[in-house]
Amino acid sequence: MDDLKAKWLEAIGAAADESALETLRVQAVGKKGEISLKMRELGRMTAEERQVAGPALNALKDEINSALSARKAALGDAALEARLRAEWLDVTLPGRPGRQGSVHPVSQVWEECTAIFADMGFAVAEGPQIETDWYNFDALNIPGHHPARAEMDTFYMHRAEGDDRPPHVLRTHTSPVQIRSMLDQGAPIRIIAPGRVYRADYDQTHTPMFHQIEGLAIDRDLSMANLKWVLEEFFSAFFGTKVKTRFRASHFPFTEPSAEVDIQCSFEGGMVKVGQGDDWLEVLGSGMVHPKVLKAGGIDPDEYQGFAFGMGIDRIAMLKYGIPDLRAFFDSDLRWLRHYGFSALQVPTIRGGV
Ligand code: PHE
Repeated sequence: MDDLKAKWLEAIGAAADESALETLRVQAVGKKGEISLKMRELGRMTAEERQVAGPALNALKDEINSALSARKAALGDAALEARLRAEWLDVTLPGRPGRQGSVHPVSQVWEECTAIFADMGFAVAEGPQIETDWYNFDALNIPGHHPARAEMDTFYMHRAEGDDRPPHVLRTHTSPVQIRSMLDQGAPIRIIAPGRVYRADYDQTHTPMFHQIEGLAIDRDLSMANLKWVLEEFFSAFFGTKVKTRFRASHFPFTEPSAEVDIQCSFEGGMVKVGQGDDWLEVLGSGMVHPKVLKAGGIDPDEYQGFAFGMGIDRIAMLKYGIPDLRAFFDSDLRWLRHYGFSALQVPTIRGGV
């Protein structure tokens, strides 16, 4: 009896899981289990033998049953324990902060320009980046044979044979928005048109896609003096210091007279400082809108005149933030963007308002 007891209790204590335990239960106390068979033998015993063996067998059966249920409970606890350990979650840990983006320097400068011109009453106008060659060239007094077409390194859109839509180009400048605004709203006009433009060009200061901001003002008595005032106001607000401008006679097919505009600066130790010194840096093209352009825009040149200008957003961003290579704007190097990025837009305003 003692051997039986030792054997089963040891086996039960060592059962690794519930199914091993169930097998042991069947083998020990199941209908044909060892203990049950021994109980059946009681009938063949003498009354005396039975008096000793009967209670002992019953006690052993009870012991085995309680060992079975104790082991079952222990196995269940261990399983739960293991699960709790595996699925443990520390809800008191601080959360992982979401990555915070920042404003790209070009967008920052774009917004700065828009805000400053808005202070001077310029509304924002837009045009498509895929433009017909009429808006991009012809209407701006750049006919088919004109050398400016070749100089602009234009990207032409492919046209399938039999496609009779007008030829399209990736706009080479924001000036076509001048024509669109004239045709859309008529005179008077006071708009800026910031946007992307495209030229097949690539080096330290040229990328195939870059940004320009166009300005157009049309009214009954505007002159170059108004243009000069607007630009000096703009540059002084943009650079946060009084900036002188220098107008150099130039030529654009869509303005007459035309001027290239330089801003006052100094070059010190490879750094450009705007608004001081006696060097000059070219930043934009401008002029009085050519009468032919007004006509193409449906405006009577005998009644109205105006000025227009176009400048590179990337270029003035490089100047303001001391960025030496234009191509870095478009490399998507996060370290670079973080270095020049801004977590919130900082928008300058005209001193004292207009
Ligand atoms: N569109 C010209 C350029 O891209 C700039 C310009 C705009 C010049 C308006 C005069 C007037 O170079």
